Amino acid sequence: MSIERIGISIEKSLLDAFDKLIDSKGYQNRSEAVRDLIREKIDYEELADPAAQAVGGVFLVYDHHHTSLSERLLKLQHNHLIHVITSTHIHLDHHNCLEIIILRGHVCEIQKLADSMSALKGVKLSRVNLISTDESEH
Ligand code: NI
Repeated sequence: MSIERIGISIEKSLLDAFDKLIDSKGYQNRSEAVRDLIREKIDYEELADPAAQAVGGVFLVYDHHHTSLSERLLKLQHNHLIHVITSTHIHLDHHNCLEIIILRGHVCEIQKLADSMSALKGVKLSRVNLISTDESEH
């Protein structure tokens, strides 16, 4: 990996705000913070493409007393074996379970499967976190 040094011009007030931000995040220097910003922006732009390859974590909170929900959730996963990498189950309290399902595939496929999971009756809360895997370099 070759490294290039660049210089950029930036208003003092904007730089001050940036320094304050990265200090609060625990960055040791600006370079690492700028690199992360660039990676984040590239990842964000890539995920806007429905055909992009990605890995997604689907977080589902549901009441396990809800009849047949766990079963339907399992069925969905068995029907999409290509996309489901792994899943884990956490008993949050007496009623609620948290299921984290990791999916891999095109952004649109992950989104579609995640949508059908969150639409299941009994799912109280759902969230998807996507990471682009199109370019493994960054
Ligand atoms: Ni549970």
